[in-house]
Amino acid sequence: MQSYEKLLLENKAWVQEKLSDNPNFFSHLAEIQKPEFLWIGCSDSRVPANEITNTEPGEIFVHRNIANLVVHTDLNMLSVLQYAVEVLKVQHIIVCGHYGCGGVKAAMTNQQLGLINKWLRNIKDIYRLHKDELLAMQDEAQRLNRLIELNIEEQVYNLAKTSIVQIAWRKENRPILHGWVYDIHDGILHDLLTITPDTRLDDIYMFDI
Ligand code: CO
Repeated sequence: MQSYEKLLLENKAWVQEKLSDNPNFFSHLAEIQKPEFLWIGCSDSRVPANEITNTEPGEIFVHRNIANLVVHTDLNMLSVLQYAVEVLKVQHIIVCGHYGCGGVKAAMTNQQLGLINKWLRNIKDIYRLHKDELLAMQDEAQRLNRLIELNIEEQVYNLAKTSIVQIAWRKENRPILHGWVYDIHDGILHDLLTITPDTRLDDIYMFDI
């Protein structure tokens, strides 16, 4: 059997398992999706949103890209964000990065990786902003993990800088923004920061709403 054929076979087994627990599982899900959470995570195969939060289909609206970035020219991310905030009306947006992130690690090097350099350049800017703190660390793994945390914090602030989030803050007092980091060594999620709808960013980032 080809490896991909195993996926199709496993799917059938999963359907049976779900139906034996709850015969209405799929008919109920097919009617509506009303997730409370938007998840913006890394594409890394070891950090799947539903598995690590023990949630079911229908509970989390998910966007993933390399190194969990919130880039204001990324139409894909912006479309997901707009839909989640304005139509699904999510209460929480979680930016979830992870220790040992290959994308952040690559951004710390001078490797020429082609197109992906343009994506990772966003992380190099964060490195530059926090260079003193990072270079003061002797241990390279520690430095990488600190940049991973700083990247998550920056991406949460990037969410707060969008008019999509600021309009929802002003009009509906939601969503709450969260920055989490996942430890691939033990499977634990750590809460790094929370930004509530009453937060005022630096004036230059606030839109007239
Ligand atoms: Co990663």
